[in-house]
Amino acid sequence: MILYKTDEQVELMRKAALLVSKTLTEVAGMLKPGIQTLAIDNLIGTFIRDHHAVPSFLNYHGYPFNSCISVNDVVVHGFPNKRELKEGDIISVDAGVILNGWHGDHAYTFAIGDPGKEVAQLIRVTKESLYKGIEKAVAGNRVGDISFAIQDFTEKKHGYGVVRELVGHGLGKDLHEDPQVPNYGKRGSGAKLKEGMVLAIEPMINLGKKEVYTEDDGWTVRTKDGKASVHFEHDVCIRKEKADILSDYSPIEKAESLNSNLFSS
Ligand code: MF3
Ligand code: CO
Repeated sequence: MILYKTDEQVELMRKAALLVSKTLTEVAGMLKPGIQTLAIDNLIGTFIRDHHAVPSFLNYHGYPFNSCISVNDVVVHGFPNKRELKEGDIISVDAGVILNGWHGDHAYTFAIGDPGKEVAQLIRVTKESLYKGIEKAVAGNRVGDISFAIQDFTEKKHGYGVVRELVGHGLGKDLHEDPQVPNYGKRGSGAKLKEGMVLAIEPMINLGKKEVYTEDDGWTVRTKDGKASVHFEHDVCIRKEKADILSDYSPIEKAESLNSNLFSS
């Protein structure tokens, strides 16, 4: 069942989404070679709690960390660990909060040093595909219009692999609400988009083939071919002319460009 949010509820969800943006901005400021992803996860948990919110991923279906930190060929749901980041790594940081009962859930992929031309392009294109999807996220369109826009740009235009097993989703008092928002699909298909729907749109795009597998830990999703994968996620509210993007990349991008350890694509 799709749950539509009132304007007041959307403002509460914006606060939750922006707390995630703020958290990712903190992360952007601390990233450097030699840092352990577990240290990033600890900062995320502390930062969220210091802001009177709860890290929503922790214990979600038994997920054992505050955040998902997915390095290189890890697509999503990577466990933070003691491995140290090194030059050329890419790292997707996905975090969620519950603030005043409402969820925020968004993600950003960073590059530590220069990841090389191919991967830098994958990062740029995946981020752009998220905005191509958001352009279609307006009342009167259908979920499939968002899906098609992302797939068309990443797969058809750039030849990347679009992950099929994982999808975006509705967001609200629950982390995963209806409808599902695949990153592949047909124009004009799926649920009708209406004002007050809040969606987490999250392209997961592989440099190589689309196939992925889940590790024995039950969570970590990796590309089968071992090539890089990139993940960006925004929370958006459906409106008439143009979606209202509740999360905000601008402070993250600013911190990214000010951090000389990061490669700004
Ligand atoms: N952004 C991810 C999603 O929307 C986060 C969920 S991971 C979990 O599915 F750790 F919470 F399970
Ligand atoms: Co999500």
